[in-house]
Amino acid sequence: ALEQWALDAFTLEKMSHTVPMTINSMQDTAQALVAQLGLQRHPEGGYFVETDRQIEEVGTPFVEGKPPRSLGTSIYYLLSRDSPNGYFHTNKSVTYHVHHQGRAEYTLITPRPGQKPLIERKIIGPNTENGETRQLLVGTGVWKMSRLLEADLKDNATGDKAGCLITEVVVPGFHWEDHAFLTKEGLKKLFSDAEEAKEFAAYVKD
Ligand code: GUN
Repeated sequence: ALEQWALDAFTLEKMSHTVPMTINSMQDTAQALVAQLGLQRHPEGGYFVETDRQIEEVGTPFVEGKPPRSLGTSIYYLLSRDSPNGYFHTNKSVTYHVHHQGRAEYTLITPRPGQKPLIERKIIGPNTENGETRQLLVGTGVWKMSRLLEADLKDNATGDKAGCLITEVVVPGFHWEDHAFLTKEGLKKLFSDAEEAKEFAAYVKD
C-alpha cells in the first residue's frame, strides 16, 4: 500500500493543475511588485512609494508667497486589479508620468475662466501606434484621475498581469499643502450641467 505522505503528495500535485491560474498569477504579479518595491496603499487609490526627495528647497512659483518646497520628488505608482483606479485630485506642482509596464487611462480636467473645463483622455502605455503615450506631463491645477482599462481587467485579458506601473516626478517636490481631492461640491462647480458630473461622480472621493 502507498504511504499516506505519497498519497497526499499525489493529491497536491493534481490539485495544483486545477487552480485557476489567470486571476491568481495576476494578483501574485501585483503583489510581487508591491513586495519588491516596498509599495504602500495611496489615499488617492493604487499603491506608491517615494523613491527620492531632494534636500535642496526652492520657493514654488505655483503658490502665492512662494513657500519653500523640495526641488523635486519621485514615486513609483501602481494601479492593480485590487485597486484599479484613483480619485480625482489636483497638485499645484507639475507632474511627469513615465511608463514602466501595463497601461492606464488618465482623465484630465483643466478649468478655464469663462469657459467649460477642458476634458482630455490619454492612455499611458507602450502601444504608441494606437496613440498610447509613454510620457504624460500634467500641469499645475489640473484635476486628474487614472484607471485600468475595462478590456485589460477581464479574466482572460492580455493586458499586463500586474496592472500599470509608472514613475511620477513632481516639480517642485510633492507637498500635501499643494494637493487637493475633488469634492462633490467642486465637481458641481466645474460642471453646472449634470452629464459630466454624473459620469465623474464615481471617481470623487467624498
Ligand atoms: N506622500 C503621499 N502621497 C505622495 C505622493 O503622491 N508623492 C510623494 N512624493 N509623496 C507622497
